[in-house]
Amino acid sequence: MLVPGRELLAHAASRRSAVGSFNTYNLEITRAILKAAEARRTPVFLAVGSGALDYAGFTPLVEAVLAAAREASVPVAVHLDHSPDVDTVARCVAAGFTSVMIDGSELPFEKNVALTRSAIEAAHGVTVEAELGGVAGHEDRSGDQSTDIPMTDPDQAARFVDATGVASLAVAIGNAHGFYKGDPRLDFDRLAALAKRVSVPLVLHGASGIPDADLRRCVALGVRKINVNTEIRFTLFQSLEQSLRKGVKGYDVTKLFGAAVDAMQATVEERIAVFSQA
Ligand code: G3H
Ligand code: ZN
Repeated sequence: MLVPGRELLAHAASRRSAVGSFNTYNLEITRAILKAAEARRTPVFLAVGSGALDYAGFTPLVEAVLAAAREASVPVAVHLDHSPDVDTVARCVAAGFTSVMIDGSELPFEKNVALTRSAIEAAHGVTVEAELGGVAGHEDRSGDQSTDIPMTDPDQAARFVDATGVASLAVAIGNAHGFYKGDPRLDFDRLAALAKRVSVPLVLHGASGIPDADLRRCVALGVRKINVNTEIRFTLFQSLEQSLRKGVKGYDVTKLFGAAVDAMQATVEERIAVFSQA
């Protein structure tokens, strides 16, 4: 069933766990994410980024994810991931999204505040996530993380939340999009200070490649939503490569993609288990 994003954040907060947010680009990934959530009887954010909307076409992808979410037996928030502009926020809200992220993290503080406030206005009560500080790396492909991105300052984060009234805040504590070069080094002291100073749920982006123990520690310190994308794409590619290497009889699309859906479901289930354990 389709539910507001803030319901899932409240649910996670009440259980001191985190809700998974998983990115989709097509029917197969959508199906894998929702099958995993149903198998674990756990709510999820089904996230769609601008890259996915451009790739699949706005209406076909949006209609598909909303229909799939409505049909699911667990609560699902359909979420716009990393939107740099208010127009896309408004368009997604009008289409029926129940959660959106406005990403002004590359802007100076005051401009980020202003952008976030206009997104909240355009969202007409739909849950809005914002970001302060920067999460390195590209959202749709792994491999180009830069290292000199500013981490989130706890005092500034508290001021940002007060000034905007945002529902949740994505923070930068050494996390990055895509697989990490070497071991990720998260700043847990900073995260603890953020959790203390910020009154809304914290969001961790770039979870692919972060060891489970670190993720559990993040949840214990107050992270309530964790975003995963790369690990699902990696599983998809691995499965397709394996199937094609072995050969799929009769060019059977249902076998080729069916195996990929099963593999991605397993990946998402593993992540859900870690996020809800802490
Ligand atoms: O917004 C999406 C996430 O931050 C995904 O990051 O690709 O490193 O898992 P990831
Ligand atoms: Zn992200």
